[in-house]
Amino acid sequence: MSAIIKDIEIIKSKTTKINEVDFNDLKFGNTFSDHMLVCDFKDGKWQAPKVVPYQPITLDPSAKIFHYGQSVFEGMKAYKDVDENVFLFRPLENFKRLNISSKRLAIPELPESYFMEGLKTLLEVDKDWIPKNEGSSLYIRPFIFASGNGFHASPADEYKFIICTAPSGAYFSGKVKVLIEQTYSRSANGGVGFAKAGGNYAGQFYPTQLAVAKGYQQVIWTDDNTHEYIEEAGAMNIFVRINDTLITGPTSDRILDGITRKSIIEIAKAEGIPVEVRKITVSEVVEAAKNGSLKEMFGAGTAAVISPISGFGYNDTDYDLPELEDTFASFLKKTITDIQTNKSEDPYGWRV
Ligand code: COI
Repeated sequence: MSAIIKDIEIIKSKTTKINEVDFNDLKFGNTFSDHMLVCDFKDGKWQAPKVVPYQPITLDPSAKIFHYGQSVFEGMKAYKDVDENVFLFRPLENFKRLNISSKRLAIPELPESYFMEGLKTLLEVDKDWIPKNEGSSLYIRPFIFASGNGFHASPADEYKFIICTAPSGAYFSGKVKVLIEQTYSRSANGGVGFAKAGGNYAGQFYPTQLAVAKGYQQVIWTDDNTHEYIEEAGAMNIFVRINDTLITGPTSDRILDGITRKSIIEIAKAEGIPVEVRKITVSEVVEAAKNGSLKEMFGAGTAAVISPISGFGYNDTDYDLPELEDTFASFLKKTITDIQTNKSEDPYGWRV
């Protein structure tokens, strides 16, 4: 879809909160920068985006987002190098996936220039909010939701596209212990698992609470039909290393086409790590844990980058993973973050 935006209107905040923020002690996603991008869909089209001060939104109680959950989002990061140059990582992939998600949720697709130019303008206005410290970045949250009103269970006639940003540190502080889920499922064939729909995440909270009560931090999702195949790790894609082979499940109706996931596959292949993109059975992972060939498991996503797993529970038994000196997880995390933060060459052309 093409649309040209000439100038994006910028309404600057009269005050700044930046001096209240300790950039040396950033949590994940709970401090927000001074501005946000807002773009409304009404009268059958997306209106010009604007940068405005970060502020609450007023909605009618009958807005369809509250009743029917028509919403999609993305997760991205902006990085600053030592010379204060600002970088994004594969932003067009986020734009494309946002529209793929929107289409599935019957939300009107957004023009590319509204997303890309809107984001760049917002980052220009709030560039002082992009952290420079190692391990920190400006987490970017583009999202679209149904702001149109009415209890009729049908797509709304009005939507809001907003981008807000949060200077952030690490998502997880260490390794996580996970429970292989045998009752609940995250998604089903023909469903919305491949989309970044808000409801996909809400549906994870209750099974995760049950796992937390048993002493785990996250759930490993298995397929809805048999619970015999490993699919995702919490809100991330999952990788398993058996001996020296890295394995991840193929994308499908049920598995998100993660940008970190596909970047890791490319980097691993280029670095000579054997990679298999194929279905992973729970039984092979349990068997590998028993015979010692299971070396690593980790989640991969924008927020956490790579999140190593310390062990997993299955059928009331806990399995620990070995403590290795050199892991694929740490090598791949360093390689990808060095590319993202301009500390290394970018042979893939991913840095923007
Ligand atoms: C991300 O990794 O950016 C995500 O969207 C996951 C989210 C639950 C933090």
